[in-house]
Amino acid sequence: MSATATAVQTPLTSLPAWKALQTHYETIRTRHLRELFKSDPARGTRLTAEAEGIYFDYSKHRITDETLRLLLELAEQSGLRERIDAMFSGEKINITEKRAVLHTALRAPKGAVINVDGENVVPEVHEVLDRMADFSDRVRSGAWKGFTGKRIRNVINIGIGGSDLGPVMAYEALRHYSQRDMTFRFVSNVDGTDFAEATRDLDQEETLFIISSKTFTTLETMTNAQTARDWSLKKLKDEKAVAKHFVAVSTNEKEVTKFGIDTANMFGFWDWVGGRYSMDSAIGLSTMVAVGPDNFHAMLAGFHSIDEHFRTTPFAKNLPALMGLLTVWYADFFGAETVAVLPYEQYLKRFPAYLQQLTMESNGKHVTLSGERVNYPTGPIFWGEPGTNGQHSFYQLIHQGTRLIPCDFIGFVKTLNPLGNHHDFLLANVFAQGEALAFGKTPEEVKAEGTPDWLVPHRVFEGDRPSSTFLLEELTPEALGKLVALYEHSVFTQGVIWQIDSFDQWGVELGKVLAKKIIGEIEGSGPAKGSHDSSTTTLIERYRKQRL
Ligand code: F6P
Repeated sequence: MSATATAVQTPLTSLPAWKALQTHYETIRTRHLRELFKSDPARGTRLTAEAEGIYFDYSKHRITDETLRLLLELAEQSGLRERIDAMFSGEKINITEKRAVLHTALRAPKGAVINVDGENVVPEVHEVLDRMADFSDRVRSGAWKGFTGKRIRNVINIGIGGSDLGPVMAYEALRHYSQRDMTFRFVSNVDGTDFAEATRDLDQEETLFIISSKTFTTLETMTNAQTARDWSLKKLKDEKAVAKHFVAVSTNEKEVTKFGIDTANMFGFWDWVGGRYSMDSAIGLSTMVAVGPDNFHAMLAGFHSIDEHFRTTPFAKNLPALMGLLTVWYADFFGAETVAVLPYEQYLKRFPAYLQQLTMESNGKHVTLSGERVNYPTGPIFWGEPGTNGQHSFYQLIHQGTRLIPCDFIGFVKTLNPLGNHHDFLLANVFAQGEALAFGKTPEEVKAEGTPDWLVPHRVFEGDRPSSTFLLEELTPEALGKLVALYEHSVFTQGVIWQIDSFDQWGVELGKVLAKKIIGEIEGSGPAKGSHDSSTTTLIERYRKQRL
C-alpha cells in the first residue's frame, strides 16, 4: 500500500488552518450577506468561477476573501493535492477494502494509461464500452430479437443502490435523447409491488432484463432477478429463452454463471469501481441502450472534462474543491446538518436521490482513516426536489425556520421543451429564491408595506441564508456528466478534509446480516427465538400470526 494512503496525519482539528478558521468564524458569523454585498459591489461577479461551461456563483455564501484564503489553506494542509494525485494514479486509497478508486478511468480517453497493480486498465474499459455499444445498437435497431422472434420493446434494469440510482437518474435526465419507441423501467425494491407494477402491462416476448449487481449476491436484486426469470419463463416456457431475455452486469462471473446467464451475455467491471461511482461502467448499460452509444460517450466526455479540471486547476478556481470546502465550512463551523439540492430542471427529478447515495454512503463515517473517532461533524444530509415544486412545499422552512440549510440551485439557460414563457418563469424563480434567501426582508421594509405591527415578525425574512447557483447552457449528455463529476469530486474533497474513507460502506452490513437471520425465523415454524430484543421478537411474532 502506498505511503499516501497510509501516512499518519495531523488530526484535522490540530491543523493551523482549522484553528484559524475557528477564530475567523467568530468574526464572520455576525456579518450579514446584505452587508457583505453592500461593502463590495463587485462581489456578485468576483466570487464566481467558470469551467467547462459551468458558471458557479458562490457569492451568496457567508464567506469573505479571508474565509476563502483559510479554506484553501486547509485544503493544502490536508494534502488534497497529493490525495487527488493518489486517486487518479490508481493508489489503493480505499484503505479498508484495500482497493484503488478509479471511476475516473471509466471515462479516460482510449490512449490514456492508468495502472492498477502494474496493468493498464484503460484498454479493458474501452473493450467493455465497445461491447456495450454493439449490444445497444443491436437492441435499439431491433437486430437483437426475443426468443419468439419479436423485437425487444422494453428494457428493465434490476439493481439497487449504485446499480439502480445512477441508471434511473441518467435515464430520467436524458429522456429527451432516448429512443421513444422503447420503454425503460427500473426495479430495485424487494417489495414485490415494484416488480409487479413495472411488468404488469408488458409482454414477456418483448422484454429484456438487465441484471445489474456488482457482487451479484445482493438479496433484493437476486430476489427480483429470480422473479423476473419466473415471470419470463411462465410465458416463454423454455429455459433457452433466458439467453435472449437476460443479460448481466457484474464483477462476479461465478455468480452470474450460477444464476444461469451465459457469460457471453455478461458485461464486466472491476473492484476499483465503487457501486455509487459506477454509472459510467457497464452498470450504465440501460442508459446506453436508451440514449445510444454516441450520447453515452458524450456523457463520459463531460465527466472526463471535469476530472481534468479537478486534477489540474488551482483550488481557488477549482469548482469541486470550492464546493467541497464550502460544505465543510457549513457542516463544521455553522453546524449545518443538511444541504438542499434544488435542480430547476424537471428532467433532473431523480438527481437529489442519486446524490443521496453518492454523498451519504461516501461521507457518512465516524472514524478517520486510522480508526480514531472524529471530533467534528462529517457528511451532512443531502436532500432536495426539483424547483419550483419544492417552493410550494418545504422552502418555508429554509426561508423562515430555525435551521441553516445551504442550498445548491441548478439551472439551465436553454430548455429542451420550449413552451411559451415557461422557461423564463422557471429561471425567474431560481434567481428569486437565491436573492430572497440571502437578503430577506427587514422589519422596516415589512412595516413600510403597511403591515400592522402584530404581523410584522411573521412577515420578516431574516435572510443571510447561503446558496450556490450553478448555471449551465442546456441539459445535454455532456452537461449531465459534468454535473455528476462535480459532486463526485466535491464529495472526495470533503472526505479528504475529514480524513475519512469515502469509498467503503461498512454501515450497511449489520442490517443485511440481521435481515437474513430474521428471514429464516419468519419462514420457519415455531416461535421466533433468535437472540433478539423483546421489541424485535414481538414484531416478528406479530407479523407471523397476522399474515396467516
Ligand atoms: O447498499 C450497499 C451497497 O453495497 C451499495 O454500495 C451498492 O451500490 C449496492 O449495495 C448494490 O450492490 P450490488 O451492485 O453489489 O448489488
